[in-house]
Amino acid sequence: MDERPGGVVAIYPGSFDPITCGHLDLIERSSRLVDRLVVAILRNENKQPLFTVEERIEMLREVVAPYPNVEVDSFDGLLVDYAAGRRATVIVRGIRAISDYEYELQMALMNRRLRPEIETAFLMAGEAFSFISSRLVKEVIGLGGNIAGLVPPGIEAKLKKKFMTGKEELR
Ligand code: PNS
Repeated sequence: MDERPGGVVAIYPGSFDPITCGHLDLIERSSRLVDRLVVAILRNENKQPLFTVEERIEMLREVVAPYPNVEVDSFDGLLVDYAAGRRATVIVRGIRAISDYEYELQMALMNRRLRPEIETAFLMAGEAFSFISSRLVKEVIGLGGNIAGLVPPGIEAKLKKKFMTGKEELR
C-alpha cells in the first residue's frame, strides 16, 4: 500500500487474539492523529494463540473497514525493523492501568535504543474499556460467561463458534 511522502505513518502492534472493543477504541482514536495507521499482528508468538494469524487478519480487516486510513498487516522479527520498513515513525500502544506501565516502558525504551528515530506514543485506554483484555475475554467465554460489548459483534460470533467446536482449548 502507498505511504504518502510526508505523511505520518504509525504502527499499532499487538497479538489481537482476539481484537477487543478496547483495541478498536484505540484504533479509532489513533487513526485520527496520523495519516496512515497500520495495525500489525505479531506472527511469531511463543504462546499458542486461539486464532491463527490469518483468522486474526480477516477479523481485523472486517472491523477496521470503516476507517479508510487504517490497514491490517502482520510482522515477524523486531517491531522497529518492521516499522522502519513501512516508513513508520510512530508506534502506538495503549495503557489501561498502572500495571501495563512497566512492561510498556521497557518495550518503549528498548525500541528507542534500537531505533531512536521511531517514537512510541501512548494513548490511555477509554475508561469504559480499561478492564478488557483478550486473555480475560477468552477466559470468560470459555467458562460460559457473557462477553457482549467487550468485543465487536462479529468477533463475538467467531469466538462463540471457536469455543462451540470444542476443538480449541482455552489457553
Ligand atoms: O499485544 P501484545 O502481546 O502486548 O503485543 C506485544 C508486541 C507485539 C508489541 C511485542 O511483543 C513486540 O513488539 N514483539 C516483536 C518483537 C520485538 O520487537 N521485541 C522487542 C520489543 S522491546
